[in-house]
Amino acid sequence: MTSREESTVAYESMFENASIGILISNGAGIIEKVNPSASRLFGYGLEELVGQKIEVLIPATLRKTHVQHREGYAQRPSPRPMGLGMDLSALRKDGTTFPIEISLATYTIGDKKEIVSFVSDISKRKKDEEGLQRLAEELETKVQERTEALSQAIQELQQMNENLNHEMEQRKNAEQEVRRAFEKEKDLGELKSRFVSMASHEFRTPLSGILTSTALIDRYNQSGDKEKIGRHIQTIKSSVQNLTNILNDFLSLDKLEAGRVECRPSSFSMDDFARDLVDEMQSLAKKGQRILYQHQGGKELVVLDREILRNVLINLLSNAMKYSPEGVDVHFGIEQQDSRIVIIVRDEGIGIPEVEQGQLFERFFRARNATNVQGTGLGLNIVKRYLGLMGGSISYISRENEGTTFTVILPEGIQP
Ligand SMILES: Nc1ncnc2c1ncn2[C@@H]1O[C@H](COP(=O)(O)OP(=O)(O)O)[C@@H](O)[C@H]1O
Ligand SMILES: [Mg+2]
Repeated sequence: MTSREESTVAYESMFENASIGILISNGAGIIEKVNPSASRLFGYGLEELVGQKIEVLIPATLRKTHVQHREGYAQRPSPRPMGLGMDLSALRKDGTTFPIEISLATYTIGDKKEIVSFVSDISKRKKDEEGLQRLAEELETKVQERTEALSQAIQELQQMNENLNHEMEQRKNAEQEVRRAFEKEKDLGELKSRFVSMASHEFRTPLSGILTSTALIDRYNQSGDKEKIGRHIQTIKSSVQNLTNILNDFLSLDKLEAGRVECRPSSFSMDDFARDLVDEMQSLAKKGQRILYQHQGGKELVVLDREILRNVLINLLSNAMKYSPEGVDVHFGIEQQDSRIVIIVRDEGIGIPEVEQGQLFERFFRARNATNVQGTGLGLNIVKRYLGLMGGSISYISRENEGTTFTVILPEGIQP
């Protein structure tokens, strides 16, 4: 066999046995030769396609464009895959279509140009691809679903956490409130029990004074000694006054503790108010003891709680008198400055021991040099708290055996 014959045989065998479909057509698109794989692919008998236009293998909708493409290719042929990037499909004899991939090549014998189409059925690959695509999509949906469920769960957890925090906050507040109420209750209980022990001690002197005096009055009544009777009536009066003072201190403190003291300001003349007070207090003074009152500055009306101010000054003046000896005067000064009032209560009495001065405003505090004078140790504590209600303040200077000066500073007016 010549080498030409050999190559023909090789070519024939390749053509006949190739698993890929091979169609040879001429420049006009007429099929000239079809290999067994191609006729099987398109569902035709071996010779059936020969002489037909290549377009019979193309779905009707694509036929027209194919003719244009084919003619274009015949003019500028080059080996290449067809319809790059496009989904190509072919038409079987039975009218069904299937996806294909085509490669084109040309050759010339004499002046005859032939076009070779290599056609492979890619249905399986497409199906696999589609399956994969579906799988990917399913996976994506699943991931999305899981992500949503997760973020939902996270949100719920966060909400739960917030609720928990809120609940804890509320519980803590409630606990604090209960504790505060309890502390207050304990404070009040303590206050009352301390009062009872203080009162049982402090009540004894005035009560026994009253008892003795009534017994003596009874006796002097028989002898008709009017002067002595009068003295004992005086003793009874001041003992009752003492008892009243103790009870008043306690009631004031109880009201303060319960937060039941309200500041009710009204407008009044400070000077008139002070003069009335001096008259009233003078009657409680010791023998030979005077309250020396002085007013300085303008005499504008002030806007303060009269009742609270009265209590404050009664406390300070009665301290000054009771902690000073007979015959020693007490000084009471008021200075009305531009926007404030300075009130001074000064005595030349027993003074307060320096080591004890820090406790002066504590409840039940009584200095050791004051124990033989009647008192509750509540007065100054009340004074300080009353002044607090009116935006005022109190300070003092004291030397034992020399005397004490209390200075009160108040605003000229307060809002109701
Ligand atoms: N003007 C004063 N001079 C000396 N000591 C005073 C004076 N005022 C107050 N004190 C001391 O401060 C203590 C507390 O005063 P206070 O609270 O008014 O209670 P009380 O007068 O009922 O004892 C007094 O017991 C006394 O020791
Ligand atoms: Mg007092």
